[in-house]
Amino acid sequence: MGNGAREEILRLFRRGGDLVSGEELSRILGISRTAVWKQIRLLREQGYVIEAVPSRGYRLTSTPDLLLPAEIRAGLDTQIIGREIVYLAEADSTNLRASLLGEAGSVEGTVVIADQQSAGKGRLGRRWSSPPGVNLYTSVLLRPPISPRSAPQLTFLSAVATAWAIEETSGLEPQVKWPNDILLGGKKVAGLLNEMSAETDRVHFVVLGIGVNLNMQAGQFPQDLRYPATSLTLETGRPISRLRFARSLLHHLEGLYRVYLEKGFTPILLAWKNLFDLAGRQVEVDLQKRRLSGVAIGIDEDGALLVRLVDGSTERVLAGDVTPADS
Ligand code: BTN
Repeated sequence: MGNGAREEILRLFRRGGDLVSGEELSRILGISRTAVWKQIRLLREQGYVIEAVPSRGYRLTSTPDLLLPAEIRAGLDTQIIGREIVYLAEADSTNLRASLLGEAGSVEGTVVIADQQSAGKGRLGRRWSSPPGVNLYTSVLLRPPISPRSAPQLTFLSAVATAWAIEETSGLEPQVKWPNDILLGGKKVAGLLNEMSAETDRVHFVVLGIGVNLNMQAGQFPQDLRYPATSLTLETGRPISRLRFARSLLHHLEGLYRVYLEKGFTPILLAWKNLFDLAGRQVEVDLQKRRLSGVAIGIDEDGALLVRLVDGSTERVLAGDVTPADS
């Protein structure tokens, strides 16, 4: 007994009706009244407010904003994404945990969520600041039937899903910066780090790593950030429900993934282009070994950034860090 019993108790509370008696809970779950009481106590310790009305039963009056699988599932309408949800109160990195699950054979759609990360990974070996209780740190395991060459396309898919979840939960209009930052008013609000395990012509699995600053306060950002950063709460002036955000993100990931499997990359890229704010702007591109400057003229069918250089030639950039020169 444990998680399963608690999920079942929560389901019974939500089934409608008002009070649920201890006797009913004990009968339906097939456990003793003392065991029911113990599960209620554990739920309370997790932050659920459960009122006890003498000789009538229990009532659920408030739910914590914890990203617990039972809570996420309660309003989730997906079939693939979130088939398995693994919640960790603390992880080194959800990407690392999801990769290990991928290697161990976990099903496509497994979602790993951590309340905090001690070694959150950013792009290019950087750290992703991951304090507890405020943000979303998640990694989704996919097993798409594609070649390793096409795997970068999934970054565009997770960028669109994240931007749509931001729109839906905050009413704000995010932009995407090639290849994978999500911005609000030029400040970074979310980052994506996709990793894959593959052999020459076959992907074993891809991990979509998504970090979104939801309720982080100004003083919680690291001092040494390379870019201006923000959170949804700083932009809207109100708290954002992590649960609602997580459900919205998984819902959009599922919709876009289904489109991708059925129709390929073109519709994903189209949706992404609608959020792209660098087109026509002067940019600097850091390619690690050299820097480019020019005008971002668009994205080609593989998702590479096209930059028109001063000499009139066009450079196709597959990986790098882009900054608008006019920001
Ligand atoms: C970046 O912009 O540099 C990418 C940041 C990606 C952060 C997320 S948080 C969840 C997942 N787990 C990690 O360790 N990293 C990604």
